[in-house]
Amino acid sequence: MLMKREVNPPKVIESLCIGCERCVAVCPSFVLDMADEKPKVLRGEWCIGCGHCGAVCPSEAILYHERLPEKNPNGGEAQAVSPEVLDLLIRERRSVRNYTPDPVPKQILEKILEAGRYGPTGTNSQNVHYVVLTSPDQIEQLREMTLRFGDQIFSRVQSWFGSFFLSLVAGEKTVEYLRDSLPKMMVAREQINRGKDRLFFHAPAVMIAHAESWDSSSSFNCSVALYNCSLMAHALGLGCCFNGFLVNAVNHDRKIKRWLSIPADHRCYSAMALGYPNMKYERLVSRHPPKVMWH
Ligand SMILES: Cc1cc2nc3c(=O)[nH]c(=O)nc-3n(C[C@H](O)[C@H](O)[C@H](O)COP(=O)(O)O)c2cc1C
Repeated sequence: MLMKREVNPPKVIESLCIGCERCVAVCPSFVLDMADEKPKVLRGEWCIGCGHCGAVCPSEAILYHERLPEKNPNGGEAQAVSPEVLDLLIRERRSVRNYTPDPVPKQILEKILEAGRYGPTGTNSQNVHYVVLTSPDQIEQLREMTLRFGDQIFSRVQSWFGSFFLSLVAGEKTVEYLRDSLPKMMVAREQINRGKDRLFFHAPAVMIAHAESWDSSSSFNCSVALYNCSLMAHALGLGCCFNGFLVNAVNHDRKIKRWLSIPADHRCYSAMALGYPNMKYERLVSRHPPKVMWH
């Protein structure tokens, strides 16, 4: 069902307003417009709640939910991090596949989720939902279900009929890719059978992001939210590994989706294992130059 969004437009305190028009200039939804040299809320029902008008106002003249927006400790004068620090943060984050058995305290997980909250979302829908698993039993159950799903897919790829059926659902290229991955999957399966977790890497927590599938921004919203979470996790001394295998299993196996209590009209767009890394990377890695076409 399509839920109508609750609208809470900003309130302008005219006595404080200096008529600088900044609030009008930053509003993406034409909510405010100038009248008699002051901004007026003309289309309050179109407000997407992004908070820009209040955050940009130099005279504390805009309230949102009857409150002034939170103060920026930097005063907005300088960026919170230097390009050099940000560059290093981006470059030293790694997909972590080796964890200590230490559980991640709930307060730490909450801090990580906070970072997800502040990612951009299409029309500021803030529609990212999370499932966080920390119980070893539940992670084990999810691992079992995901591996069972993987086994089914790879057994289909090995037969003509199964491949044909899969290609109708997923396309020829995907089947070809799966067939090429078979030898690697066999090695992974063999290691898993020997008790080495090649899916979640014995991580003590798994985080899944899901959102309404009808919203074309959901994929981006969830991916960016979890990427933000992964950066915060890194800054807190944890590590993460995104898991496309789990995302596919959740979206193509109704049992797993139901088990995770993900609504039928949602899709899982991103998932990751996380925990404390048990190895340090002493060096950075190299990457291809950007594939860019300048015009
Ligand atoms: C969408 C997505 C899905 C991924 N799925 C898996 C996965 O299922 N298993 C895994 O070990 N790594 C997975 N990764 C991690 C990539 O292998 C990793 O990002 C890549 O090798 C680059 O390494 P880095 O993240 O350390 O820079 C995934 C990454 C992304 C972005």
